[in-house]
Amino acid sequence: MFEDLRIICWPDPRLLRKSEAVESFDENLRALAARMLELMRQAKGVGLAAPQVGHNIRLFVMNSTAEPGKERIYVNPVLVDPDGEEEGEEGCLSLPGINVKVVRNKLITLEAKDISGKPLQQRESGYVARIWQHEFDHLNGTLLTDRMGPAAKLTNRKTLDDLRVRYQAEHPKALPAGKKSRR
Ligand code: CO
Repeated sequence: MFEDLRIICWPDPRLLRKSEAVESFDENLRALAARMLELMRQAKGVGLAAPQVGHNIRLFVMNSTAEPGKERIYVNPVLVDPDGEEEGEEGCLSLPGINVKVVRNKLITLEAKDISGKPLQQRESGYVARIWQHEFDHLNGTLLTDRMGPAAKLTNRKTLDDLRVRYQAEHPKALPAGKKSRR
């Protein structure tokens, strides 16, 4: 059903939108999550949010260990009770070639629904908490590009320019990122 899905890259506008809450926990959602896990595994990623495959819904998948059976799926997640801060390096499958140091909460609680709509609550620290915060950002249209300081923007300028050129070549009718059509 979702065989044609691919991971999309910045500056695709679908990555910059706020995603909508999931309402139906149906076979469609299950198939989408399964395909996202497959794409994430193929790309050797640890997390993937639905907007990264062009679906603007509040769903993300992850596997912090890459071990089979350790996959997690979260629907309509909310992050609460943050504690502490720590800086760590992050990459993103939608921003290939970019690595940015980002300050995240050290400890945080995630409340969400599982794939069948059952509520769940988990509290984690460190790497898992960092992945949650990165993927949650995606659901609000926030990317590593928004988390970059001036120095990181300068360091990554060439890579971002290349990604923009690539996007425009693949989408010849698209307007330059950040500009809106007047029509
Ligand atoms: Co990402």
